[in-house]
Amino acid sequence: MNKVKGKVAIITGGASGIGETTARLFSKHGALVVVIADIQDELGEQAAKSIGSNICTYIHCDVTDEAQVKSMVDSTVEIYGQLDIMFSNAGILSKSDQTIVDFDMEQFDQLFDVNVRGMAVCVKHAARAMVNGQVKGNIISTASVAGRMGAEQQTDYSMSKHAVVALMKCASKQFGKYGIRVNCVSPFVVATPLINKAFGEEVMNMFQSMSSLKDVVLKAEDVAEAVLFLACDESGFVSGHDLVVDGGFTN
Ligand SMILES: NC(=O)c1ccc[n+]([C@@H]2O[C@H](COP(=O)([O-])OP(=O)(O)OC[C@H]3O[C@@H](n4cnc5c(N)ncnc54)[C@H](O)[C@@H]3O)[C@@H](O)[C@H]2O)c1
Repeated sequence: MNKVKGKVAIITGGASGIGETTARLFSKHGALVVVIADIQDELGEQAAKSIGSNICTYIHCDVTDEAQVKSMVDSTVEIYGQLDIMFSNAGILSKSDQTIVDFDMEQFDQLFDVNVRGMAVCVKHAARAMVNGQVKGNIISTASVAGRMGAEQQTDYSMSKHAVVALMKCASKQFGKYGIRVNCVSPFVVATPLINKAFGEEVMNMFQSMSSLKDVVLKAEDVAEAVLFLACDESGFVSGHDLVVDGGFTN
């Protein structure tokens, strides 16, 4: 316990799934405050309330809007003094299959706006706040196993997650001199609203049978533990790393 004691953390996409679970874990581990930044206001407010309004707060922030991201980071620093951890986690899937021949370019652009541009904007403003505040902070982004291999479908998603890994690698080179560590977490399939909406139970079971670890189902809590590791001092010399949480799937 207390692995992030006294730390100020922002979690984008924190109203649901992996982000919400990580907000709960950070609060259990002594964070001073966890700021949930999302566009699902009711869900975000509920999550913050159930975690505890003394530790967790919700702010509406659409990561596709740089002004909103800047203002969310600035207000966090103004209220809580500094930013120690940015977990840039908001991400979406396209509604259609997005095979290359049938690319829906409108959906493609929307996805890139959130998954790539949104991540870049969050890393940019978090790093600026840490550099200006002389904080040796931690930036963690959510990539995916889809960012390490090709796919039969969801091409735009796979492309976007490859880009998240590239962003993390560049950021780790550029901010290492300030003592800022930058890493990614790359989960295998986890049953969250994102995945449940896109795929049925049958497909989920099929995915799960593809992991090398048998009779173990990946949960959002497992991903949150990996994020916590990257956010705390126990990973003190880990930077530029994509921590895969996939039960051996991509080996
Ligand atoms: N669930 C999986 O199997 C899985 C696997 C690998 C990677 N991921 C990645 O994990 C991350 C979290 O996904 P999840 O599975 O918890 O899904 P989720 O849908 O439960 O959570 C994603 C959150 O992001 C928020 N969001 C979407 N667009 C946003 C925007 N423009 N601005 C701010 N917030 C926005 C949503 O409102 C939602 O609360 C995503 O980046 C996803 O690509 C998920």
